[in-house]
Amino acid sequence: MKNSTVKAVLQDPKLLQEIQISGWVRTFRSNRFIALNDGSTLKNLQCVVDFEALDPDLLKRINTGAALRVMGTLVESQGRGQNVELQVKELEVLGDAHPDQYPIQPKKHSMEFLREQAHLRIRTNTFGAVMRVKSALSFAVHQYFTSNGFYNFHAPIITGSDAEGAGEMFRVSTLDPKDPPLTEDGGVDFSKDFFGKETNLTVSGQLEAEAYAMGMGKVYTFGPTFRAENSNTSRHLAEFWMIEPEMAFYDLDANMDLAEDFIQYVVRYVLENCMEDLEFLEKRLADEEKTKPQAERSEMALIEKLRFVTDQPFKRVTYTEAIEILRNSKPNKKKRFTYPIDAWGADLQSEHERYLVEKHFKCPVILFNYPATIKAFYMRLNEDGKTVRAMDILFPGIGEIVGGSQREERLDVLVEKMRQLGVDEKELWWYLDLRKFGTAVHSGFGLGFERLVQFTTGMGNIRDVIPFPRTPQNAEF
Ligand code: 4AD
Ligand code: MG
Repeated sequence: MKNSTVKAVLQDPKLLQEIQISGWVRTFRSNRFIALNDGSTLKNLQCVVDFEALDPDLLKRINTGAALRVMGTLVESQGRGQNVELQVKELEVLGDAHPDQYPIQPKKHSMEFLREQAHLRIRTNTFGAVMRVKSALSFAVHQYFTSNGFYNFHAPIITGSDAEGAGEMFRVSTLDPKDPPLTEDGGVDFSKDFFGKETNLTVSGQLEAEAYAMGMGKVYTFGPTFRAENSNTSRHLAEFWMIEPEMAFYDLDANMDLAEDFIQYVVRYVLENCMEDLEFLEKRLADEEKTKPQAERSEMALIEKLRFVTDQPFKRVTYTEAIEILRNSKPNKKKRFTYPIDAWGADLQSEHERYLVEKHFKCPVILFNYPATIKAFYMRLNEDGKTVRAMDILFPGIGEIVGGSQREERLDVLVEKMRQLGVDEKELWWYLDLRKFGTAVHSGFGLGFERLVQFTTGMGNIRDVIPFPRTPQNAEF
């Protein structure tokens, strides 16, 4: 007999039908009621066994975490909380989980504890809900771009360039670190390395996406990116996934329009397709909020927060306007920020970003036209000669969720900028070629996928929205 899924059975229950389900035991009550979960949905299927008819040795093996195959008849349930249940006729324990050893017992576990059990935590309601929402978001991303005339393109993972010019790269090398070949002046001889030069894991697929946009029009990449930044925060990972659309003939305004429409679309998709998981996550978040001091609690419930993003335009503000607002604000009792904004040109800290979104504008904010000095080399210089056509989208509870810009399409201006910032022209000869041959206005942005998932699921720590998080001093799994 073919296996059904709990989701399919509960969505469209056919009473008196014989079905077979395989899954994992969540709980076993009164030697009679098995709550069986197969990961297809938050809900468990209640399976009722006749313990008097069951082999006592088999009965002992029905423990939380064990894998079972059950076969039986679907009947109306008298119990509360479910409409149907499975009257079990046949039961097979596929894999045991010893109660003294299996760590995910039916009780509340802390997020810290579950991080140590990253291989098993997917068997909890919270991680099941988060990962189902994440999967739906990923589908919505591809759907949005495909139906809006974009082509999906895969940027390389190993590259010879530093797309952000921030030097936060993981090196890729096949040389023996203890005994590398040396050049005559004593440095490591990378010409002997696998690729004959220094290479690294990509920090962003942008530069390659630019090349493809300048041939296919509108492209997007959705893949892993890597940053060796030593940020031990709840919003940083060393390996995260980024969605990067790049569009020929788009200026900064068109770029901002696209980013806003795109984010609203994917969040709306989740609201329309994942309500059961969202309601569970909302309740989880509300319980977590209760443990915080009043002043730190979020004023909005999760689903309300999502609607807040889908139902109104994002506020667009220039960097210069934002600095004025921040200088004149009294963010807390001490009436000052930990990092006060002293002068135009200062980079914004996350406390500033969150103040603008959560306290001042109280809606998602797109900040644009940043000082050239605090942004990457490839951004289009404005006519004022000191700001660039950059945009960051700031979200409540998250801060920066998107970073993007109109790109510098003028060869001479770009070369000059690279010289000023010490970006190697020889390494990026191909990138400069794009300005030599058929250059045109173009734009794009990068959205940190895990930050989007954090926002939509209400999870406080980015480590809890990726299966096996990579963070400093941590790659256990
Ligand atoms: O602002 P970033 O660095 O922009 C770029 O990489 C551009 N090349 C993108 C482009 O224009 N195609 O990164 C983009 C986004 C951030 O806004 C943030 O959401 C996410 O990537 N991000 C991270 N997410 C998790 N962990 C980290 N360490 C992240 N660093 C950036
Ligand atoms: Mg950024």
